[in-house]
Amino acid sequence: MDRILVLDFGGQYNQLIARRVREQHVYAEIRLYSGISLEEIVAAGYKGVIFTGGPNSVYEENSPRFTEKILEAGIPLLGICYGAQLTAFLAGAHVGKAMDSSEYGKTVLRDARGVLFTDVPEESICWMSHTDRIEAPPAGFEITARTDKCPVAAMADDERRIYAVQFHPEVTHTEFGRKIISNFLFEICHCVPDWRMEDFLENMIGRCRRELAGKKVLLALSGGVDSSVTAILLHRAVGDNLTCVFVDHGLLRKKEGDMVEEMFRDRFGLNIIRVNAGERFLEKLSRARKPERKRKIIGREFIRVFEEQAAALGHIDVLAQGTIYPDVVESGKGESAVIKSHHNVGGIPKHMKFKEIVEPLRDLFKDEVREVGRKLGIPEEMVSRQPFPGPGLAVRIIGKITAEKIALLQEADAIFREELEKADLRGQASQYFAVLTDMRSVGVKGDARTYGYVLALRSVTTDDFMTAEWTRLPYELLEKTASRILNEVADVSRVVYDITSKPPGTVEWE
Ligand code: XMP
Repeated sequence: MDRILVLDFGGQYNQLIARRVREQHVYAEIRLYSGISLEEIVAAGYKGVIFTGGPNSVYEENSPRFTEKILEAGIPLLGICYGAQLTAFLAGAHVGKAMDSSEYGKTVLRDARGVLFTDVPEESICWMSHTDRIEAPPAGFEITARTDKCPVAAMADDERRIYAVQFHPEVTHTEFGRKIISNFLFEICHCVPDWRMEDFLENMIGRCRRELAGKKVLLALSGGVDSSVTAILLHRAVGDNLTCVFVDHGLLRKKEGDMVEEMFRDRFGLNIIRVNAGERFLEKLSRARKPERKRKIIGREFIRVFEEQAAALGHIDVLAQGTIYPDVVESGKGESAVIKSHHNVGGIPKHMKFKEIVEPLRDLFKDEVREVGRKLGIPEEMVSRQPFPGPGLAVRIIGKITAEKIALLQEADAIFREELEKADLRGQASQYFAVLTDMRSVGVKGDARTYGYVLALRSVTTDDFMTAEWTRLPYELLEKTASRILNEVADVSRVVYDITSKPPGTVEWE
């Protein structure tokens, strides 16, 4: 299988670059520039290397660099933004501050030519975001595109197969970005597009079957996409040797606990232990008011419950985790073994003795995990679920948490979700839910004055959850939802819609 190395210099779109490569069925790995040597790159046999963007200027003293020997290593190279400037710098060019000529946003790319721009028009739109620029190409390079403000928007050294683009081909605003990346992969690196999800899945199931043969495996199942896909995949590999512990902390959405149990036990035949710990969590949370306190209590109690279950089960060899690629990259670990010996795992205390950890999804992006889920026959409503925070409704009930408030919020939230899904607006809304404020307000029902809660509806539209827009939901939908909640849920006297984007707001209220 051909592989591309994405060498990370700290740019915000780095994971996107790897995804764009994988979309074209070539496997891409991200490694921090300081975490891999040229010798390792050569030994690993990568078909090509991509230098990513980054926030630095190559002239800063401590700016991230890589050895210039990579230019002579015979491996095709594509530098993007900071990576382009670094390529030019390593090759001996002058890179300058584009004082009056920094560019940000959609820009017209002109006079595009050469192999990297095969089947790309001479003029098209690209996405720029830079202050430095390459003033003149270094020896051996020729200019292959420009913009009005940037004399070297792209350059190429066909002999050494080194290419650089000042703009970002990986973002969708660059009209022919996909084609440019495809040209690098297939015209320059001559990759074979054979990375397929089916193969990944077959290989991974086979590998887990071999490496986990005869071992007892334990997984904490939450019902979220990652742990669900991990569960089904491992079940295919080791069958009844997999035990899933599903801790129901009582702060899930309406009927969610039953749905998870039904799906995994009845439909897929998994060995699942459901622990109904709602009362226990509620008691621990009884005095908590602040969000971080709630999160801490829930995290700690979760571990306790899980530990008790593991101890009751007796002998367990392997702990399974639903770690996915962004978790690995963000934690900066980058180790690529799927099964490794246990030293310490986020959230699981050291004294818990598992000889091994297995993380079958650790090479996959979220959308790839969803694809694997579909291939495993997991129903669409499960695979394309919106994210739900670990602490659940605890961070959607402002202030004190009570059983009554949980029940009230579950009802209101279910109505909102039902109406939004009925209106088929899931494509627009990435995450949508209700929030129970701790404020009461006056209303009137029939002839009587009421004094019930103010309930907020929240819906956001986003790709990455790092920034988000409030969803422009139709008034009719909001009206229908509000009217149903006010009629069907006792003790709510007012419904409001949250129109805060992120930033400055966050998705959750707590
Ligand atoms: P915020 O509120 O930080 O949310 O804008 C971004 C995304 O993260 C989810 N979120 C959490 N997930 N534990 C989780 O597992 C948490 O404590 C938590 N807080 C927020 C949130 O639902 C959104 O998708």
